[in-house]
Amino acid sequence: MIDTPFTGPQLAEAAAAHGTPLWVYDAATIRGQIAKLRSFDVIRFAQKACSNVHVLRLMREQGVHVDAVSSGKIDRALAAGYDVHGPDEPVVFTADLLDRPTLRKVVELGIGVNAGSPQMLSQLGEVSPGHPVWIRINPGFGHGHSRKTNTGGEHSKHGIWHEHLEESLALVRRYRLDLVGLHMHIGSGVDYDHLEAVCETMLKQVRMTGHDVRAISAGGGLSVPYAPGQPAVDTDRYFRIWDSARRELVSELGHPVRLEIEPGRFLVASSGALVTEVRAQKPMGSNHFVLVDAGFNDLMRPAMYGSAHRMSVLSPSGASRTDDGVDTVLAGPLCESGDVFTQDAHGEVHPVPLPRTEIGDLVVFHDTGAYGASMSSNYNSRPLIPEVLFDGGAARLIRRRQTVDELLALEV
Ligand code: LLP
Repeated sequence: MIDTPFTGPQLAEAAAAHGTPLWVYDAATIRGQIAKLRSFDVIRFAQKACSNVHVLRLMREQGVHVDAVSSGKIDRALAAGYDVHGPDEPVVFTADLLDRPTLRKVVELGIGVNAGSPQMLSQLGEVSPGHPVWIRINPGFGHGHSRKTNTGGEHSKHGIWHEHLEESLALVRRYRLDLVGLHMHIGSGVDYDHLEAVCETMLKQVRMTGHDVRAISAGGGLSVPYAPGQPAVDTDRYFRIWDSARRELVSELGHPVRLEIEPGRFLVASSGALVTEVRAQKPMGSNHFVLVDAGFNDLMRPAMYGSAHRMSVLSPSGASRTDDGVDTVLAGPLCESGDVFTQDAHGEVHPVPLPRTEIGDLVVFHDTGAYGASMSSNYNSRPLIPEVLFDGGAARLIRRRQTVDELLALEV
């Protein structure tokens, strides 16, 4: 049996009420994940993972801060009720460039900027001397569950190269920017060997600042078990490693240093599922294809990274199908060969064992709360699909289905 926050009948009922495909989230699971990170001074949700305003509101109610990687993400944080002037910078803009409208917005609102390039510091400093800034360091190494999620090293576009901190500090001084802290996020997927190295680099870099750094950010990247048997992150151990680096700094600097963590996936992945309906099945040579009504425009991770999500099959009334099953290639409706959910990182299609399906059954993709809905697109003129939040026994529609008329209305 697959471990999931939802019962089959709950999912079937939501599918009947709102149609498929459909995203569902469980609020209690999100709160449970937040609780595991409470030792950190600030939990800053990387909202790119799942930025429905109702999810952001839940985060705010839990005292979780947010990052923003675009002007739109700042607007989402405001819509969720974040007070940008609250303590410990409730919203920080983190990116590698400042486009002109976003520059105007962060200056107008006084939102702290986590600079990923020297130009961000000078462009900001020219129009807003004294502005609060962080510096995001690329320590020269990184890791990730895929090359595409590795954000450190010389092949990555992210952050300011660790050997160029001096130049950035000169810009901070020149524009009298207010240096809040240093930040490092080397990719998605925790590994403790890198963690020690990241902490060491952080210590070295903070020492180089000679500034009164008030905060350090451990970035995000905490992994979640996507496959049965994959270990969960030991959050106590994770905190201890960072906290011992922080303690060293506190004793050197002689004042408190706020320790932040910035997870996306860890907070929301296991809270979410994608519910789809089986609409066709056909043999193709030796392969048995099952086609569902969601495509990679909805759930992009398998096509983009070869990511595998646990799947289960429900009858239309929500009863689990549990027979031994058949090796199945699961694909979507898009007019593109890569629209297959069972493929590896090189695009090779692989059948996986799945209970035998009937037309009208529901196939549920689990652990899709992170980088699911937030990476969806309108490819093939497919409207964005609804999102439903389960909380305390109630299921609430938190995004309705987009319409094609809404898409066409943009084409003036
Ligand atoms: N902080 C920064 C600066 C980041 O760039 C990211 C993710 C995070 C925090 C959060 O990382 P997380 O805790 O979620 O691993 N679409 C990919 C993941 C891309 C991550 C981009 N940056 C996926 O579906 O796996």
